[in-house]
Amino acid sequence: MTPEAIEQLELALLFEALFRRYGYDFRHYSKASARRRVLLQVKEEGVASISHLQHRVLHDEAAADRLVQRLSINVTEMFRDPPFFREIADTVLPTLRNAEHIKIWHAGCATGEELYSMAILLVEAGLYDRCRLYGTDFNKEVLKRAERGIFPLTTMRDNSRNYHAAGGSSSLSEHMHANYDHAVIDSRLKRNTLFAPHNLATDASFGEMNMIVCRNVLIYFEQQLQERVIGLFLDSLVEGGMLCLGSHETLLTSTHAERFSVVSGSRRIYRKKG
Ligand SMILES: C[S@@+](CC[C@H](N)C(=O)[O-])C[C@H]1O[C@@H](n2cnc3c(N)ncnc32)[C@H](O)[C@@H]1O
Repeated sequence: MTPEAIEQLELALLFEALFRRYGYDFRHYSKASARRRVLLQVKEEGVASISHLQHRVLHDEAAADRLVQRLSINVTEMFRDPPFFREIADTVLPTLRNAEHIKIWHAGCATGEELYSMAILLVEAGLYDRCRLYGTDFNKEVLKRAERGIFPLTTMRDNSRNYHAAGGSSSLSEHMHANYDHAVIDSRLKRNTLFAPHNLATDASFGEMNMIVCRNVLIYFEQQLQERVIGLFLDSLVEGGMLCLGSHETLLTSTHAERFSVVSGSRRIYRKKG
């Protein structure tokens, strides 16, 4: 066996151990990115190899938690990819005008900025009171931060620029307030939101959603896991419900593609067919 093949085997065994011992399933994540992260953790833990890390993870739950944190990439921002939010405001929200109740699921919501951006659009479109927004992630640490809705004040300039680029109609300070060195989400925006743990690799569908937003998550998954997740979304959407992916993600290569029509190819927005 080549050293590379042995390392691949060590990686597979580490993920098998993490899954069997703790239920976290990284077995079908993209190998290149997962390998980079694991090697960083090998260094951080001061162990000699991936196999040594496996031993530590099996016997020390705190080490397993640290590895899970390392494998969870939480980069996000308010109104990330502003043209996406502009498209949502211009194309998707008008189709929800007559719905009595609107359920929106942000899968892989990280620290919540994406969900709160959507909440702001909904407030400005006069739809928020009829909405329920669910933010899920497997990482419980980021969910705690999402629930708090407190972000560094230093991000406000970028947030505000994105908000206006997304077509925001007032000022972001209407929705977020400065408090010492933090920006705090207005409590009004939290009223209809719920954050909860959910693992896309192992958990079941989430019923009757009008819209599912899952951006910059599938990119870390191999095709087989992407298929599972898109199947999960299909089961979780009402007929005519919208599925929104990230700018580097597509439905077109999925076996479920024919169950959706394209609302915006460039913005990766799809509608579940009847
Ligand atoms: C890069 S962030 C994307 C955040 C946000 N959707 C955005 O686009 O700005 C990816 C998130 O997906 C979460 N994630 C990765 N694998 C997951 C899984 N199997 N189940 C649920 N969440 C997952 C990570 O914990 C992380 O918070």
